[in-house]
Amino acid sequence: MKKLTVKDLSLEEKIHLLTGKDVWRLHTFSGKLPEVFVADGPNGLRMVSRENADNWGGEVYKTTAMPNVVNVANTWNPALAYENGKVIADECIEHDADVLLAPGVNIKRSPLCGRNFEYFSEDPYLAGVMGAEYIKGVQDKGIGTSLKHYAVNSSENDRLCMNAEVDERALREIYLRPFEIVLQETKPTTVMCSYNKVNGIHASENRYLLKDILRDIFGFDGIVISDWGACHNRWKSLKATLDLCMPVKEDAFAQVKTALENGWVSEEDVDFCVENLLNFIYRIQEMKPMRKLEFTEEQRLEKAKAIATESMVLLQNENCALPLKKIPTLLLGRMAEFPATCGGGSSEVSSCHKHPHLKDLLAEKLGVEVTFRSAYEAHLNGLSSARECMDLAARYDQVVVVVGEDTSLVCEGMNRTDIKLHPKHLQLIDNVTRVCDNVIVVIEAGSAVDTSAFQDKVNAILYAGYAGDAVNYALSDLLTGAAAPSGKLSETFPYEKDDLCPDVNFTPGGVDSYGEGVFVGYRGAEDMGVDVLYPFGHGLSYVDFRYENLQVEKKGETDYVISYDIYNEGAVDAAEVSQVYVGQAAARVARPVKELKAFSKDVIPARSKKHVSVTLDHSAFAYYNVCIKDWHVENGTFTVYVGASSQDIRLTQKIIVTLPDETQFT
Ligand code: GLC
Repeated sequence: MKKLTVKDLSLEEKIHLLTGKDVWRLHTFSGKLPEVFVADGPNGLRMVSRENADNWGGEVYKTTAMPNVVNVANTWNPALAYENGKVIADECIEHDADVLLAPGVNIKRSPLCGRNFEYFSEDPYLAGVMGAEYIKGVQDKGIGTSLKHYAVNSSENDRLCMNAEVDERALREIYLRPFEIVLQETKPTTVMCSYNKVNGIHASENRYLLKDILRDIFGFDGIVISDWGACHNRWKSLKATLDLCMPVKEDAFAQVKTALENGWVSEEDVDFCVENLLNFIYRIQEMKPMRKLEFTEEQRLEKAKAIATESMVLLQNENCALPLKKIPTLLLGRMAEFPATCGGGSSEVSSCHKHPHLKDLLAEKLGVEVTFRSAYEAHLNGLSSARECMDLAARYDQVVVVVGEDTSLVCEGMNRTDIKLHPKHLQLIDNVTRVCDNVIVVIEAGSAVDTSAFQDKVNAILYAGYAGDAVNYALSDLLTGAAAPSGKLSETFPYEKDDLCPDVNFTPGGVDSYGEGVFVGYRGAEDMGVDVLYPFGHGLSYVDFRYENLQVEKKGETDYVISYDIYNEGAVDAAEVSQVYVGQAAARVARPVKELKAFSKDVIPARSKKHVSVTLDHSAFAYYNVCIKDWHVENGTFTVYVGASSQDIRLTQKIIVTLPDETQFT
């Protein structure tokens, strides 16, 4: 294929290339350039046919709803993030999509953000590591990706005009850090700029973000693509080096033409982006030989199940209520039959799979009678049979209640208004706990949920997230003990929606002030001494793990090998996610008590031990210093914390860092 260069295009063609041809495609100039077709999304392929490419709301292909990104993160298993990317890429190959508009690595600052189900974590390290593996999984199959939404898109209300006011240290240490980690690990073909303003300037027009940081510091060499409708003025975004405005924008050509005539932009500005676009177009062509269709629909579902099973988080399990006993069981809740598989909006998948009733799967695996009642007439419109549910529950020694939030409550473009479940769900749980003392609650939701209303009345709570099409297969394996839970929370579950950050539904003047700075999520909870419902990194198994024998081996002033032994004290094989945090107590700047800097997920056979080893480098000790505009390690005493969650620390050891004096300040 002859590769065109900027010189081969007329000025008119160059200006046209800066904006999409329609909703999902770039210009080809009647075949002068190869076509590039982009499609959503992070939770599975959501793609219109080529005939509908000029239609934003066109009918989409039926594909596999994969475990949502929240679930991929809760596996704490980078290999599964890779697999997840591979499976979605396989479906892109089947339908001939060139770029998957995913993943989102925005920080979960508030549990109310309407797109938390599409994001990995409140922690930048976990988000960056998992996001990088997701991208590798997609791109190793010859499909491009879009690392999004750059940047500081941590709330959905008024997202097209809201201004995120965030200080530079929080910007670099928290909100841009996942993008930086991903770009250190891999080369996404595109980065998608967000809708919102950052410190007063739209991300699409923010040269400091798009050029000075993303390209010049992070070394990004792909194209910056706008979120759909995020480009308000084509020449002003061109000045910021936004390469591609999506979707088609009727006035874009005239805006650039006028700016050229007035000298507001130069042809060099145009050529800079056109060159990036040509490099991108030909990189996509060069990736095509890697495209090999690998999986059938059933195999995709199997892989989705493996991820879903590792993603669910056992929040509590009193009296060993789980795994379920092989006794007659009552199953309540409409979601057992019609599960919440994904959040709403551009990432919502039109599923090609049928969802088996959880009742049938439980009955089959337990070998007992499982009685089901939806418990709601029409969804959430009143308890059809409150009396019946109570009378029934009184006759069972084991009751499973499935509750949660579906796309009517959790969707792109809007925030949640609370983290409490709908009163009808709470009423159902309350009714059942009045007559049965062995209740297990399953929660299908895309972000933190307040369980305080019932956690002392029920035995077990299993957080399913939005686990995609395989949700009931995974639930039945975990509830019956065919698999042991191994998921851990990638976000804090607070008691109240605004315990850790201001209510994002209230942004006076459209300004979200990120006043908490770097103290986001568990960082904030520990700094403020705020109790939380379930801490970051929390998740139980069906066995207990014992941590011993911490070794800290120095390889360099800021390079260490941290190793320890984990014993599985139980009678079944199980996987444990051990987490390594680092904190500097007496720093000259305010620093979080501890920050996640490494983790490992390890399958440990019953009654056996596993020796685990992770490494720490400069980034484990550094903070971003706004005076030198760089990462800086201040000499002093650091603590290494090894634990099963951010609050369940099992082993600690001090490290004294003594870098040469010339690197330090008086
Ligand atoms: C949406 C989303 C973005 C998506 C794009 C195309 O508004 O913000 O994540 O990829 O538009 O649907």
